[in-house]
Amino acid sequence: MHSFQTSRLVLNTSLPPIPVARNWISLYSPRSANEPFIDVSQGVPRSGPPEILSVALADVAGSDEGSAYGPICGDAELHELLVEEMKTVYSHNIDISTKDVALTAGCNLAFFATAMALASFGDEIILPVPWYFNHQMSLQMLGITIVPLPLWPHDEFLPSLNECAALITPRTRAIVLVSPNNPTGAIYPPALLSSFAALARSRQVALILDETYRDFIIPTEASPVPHDLFHSSMWRSNVIHLFSFSKSYAIPGHRLGAIIAAPSFLTLISTVLDSIQICPPRAAQLALARESLLPKLRPYLKDTALALAHRHRLFRTTLQGLDTPAPWIVRTSGAGYFAFVRHPFEGIRGEEVCRRLARDAGVLTLPATFFAPTAQPTIPGDEKRWLRVSVANVDDVQIIAVATRMRAFSVSPEAL
Ligand SMILES: Cc1ncc(COP(=O)(O)O)c(C=O)c1O
Repeated sequence: MHSFQTSRLVLNTSLPPIPVARNWISLYSPRSANEPFIDVSQGVPRSGPPEILSVALADVAGSDEGSAYGPICGDAELHELLVEEMKTVYSHNIDISTKDVALTAGCNLAFFATAMALASFGDEIILPVPWYFNHQMSLQMLGITIVPLPLWPHDEFLPSLNECAALITPRTRAIVLVSPNNPTGAIYPPALLSSFAALARSRQVALILDETYRDFIIPTEASPVPHDLFHSSMWRSNVIHLFSFSKSYAIPGHRLGAIIAAPSFLTLISTVLDSIQICPPRAAQLALARESLLPKLRPYLKDTALALAHRHRLFRTTLQGLDTPAPWIVRTSGAGYFAFVRHPFEGIRGEEVCRRLARDAGVLTLPATFFAPTAQPTIPGDEKRWLRVSVANVDDVQIIAVATRMRAFSVSPEAL
């Protein structure tokens, strides 16, 4: 046990939630070998990267170049490829150049560096609730005041522009949006994102837009692109886009993310990054840039998006069945990693249901309470009944097993 004083900010930050949930796994004793434990808690790719990428990674990992320091904000070759990739995703008319790109050791670091460069101790950042817990933890550790913006099931968990506008004060430095969302899975419509960008611009605050899961949105005729913020150079006045290579390319352990922002802001970012990353991981950068892998991996991304959408359908139809009203309510955009579900047991906290689901049904999910303030619940009503399920972690057979076990699961309030 240490005997020295430590940071109050870190001490007061909630414990990492995934290990807390993982403690519940040991409570399970399967009735048969056919019922192994299934973990759909953390949002992780089901398997490793596609073969061309894993071969490239193996080739460069031990090389001199792959082992050396590189530029603070990443390698120029990958900047170029990422800009081209963004043109494929957001349209060829977008106004993005390599000067707008900084690569980071993962999107969590992209967020941390962005918050650090934006806000001083005591400044405010607006964070919709339920939030991605690492966003909340990062802000708390930096001493930035979190201003919660509640999201509601009856609004499909979409943020309200007016409610957000009312929260802006002279100390506000940024509004954070995550789309597709973690944990709710909601995909924010392009018009909503444009209105938030306009609000942020008019109030001279930043809009941090974390699009870690953007490659899993399936374009439709009505909505061919995730948004059109990058079509005009105006985006540079206040939009900061964050991206992760972890999910799209199934390389979460290689730690690679990106910040797309005005070059003037990236100057500050590079000061932060120099101190905390020196350079982003070289091997992952070199492997992705090698033989221009990014465009070659586009079909892989598309296939993954379609496979996830299929798994969402299997999950929803199996869990809800033909019951009306369905005991379990599944809220999902039908794409991406997460389904947000409301359990049917009135008066029982989601956390307790998750613990028992792990213990009795061998299924690990995360309760919505892990994505919300602990002290004062910000989402009233039935918020404590929501759970997050990641459909990305498992295959089709396993997702059907997850939904079947959840459907068969029951808990009696008297026993609590
Ligand atoms: C919204 C969001 N942002 C960032 C991250 C972290 O990404 P990375 O692995 O690139 O740090 C995650 C991972 O779950 C996430 O859900």
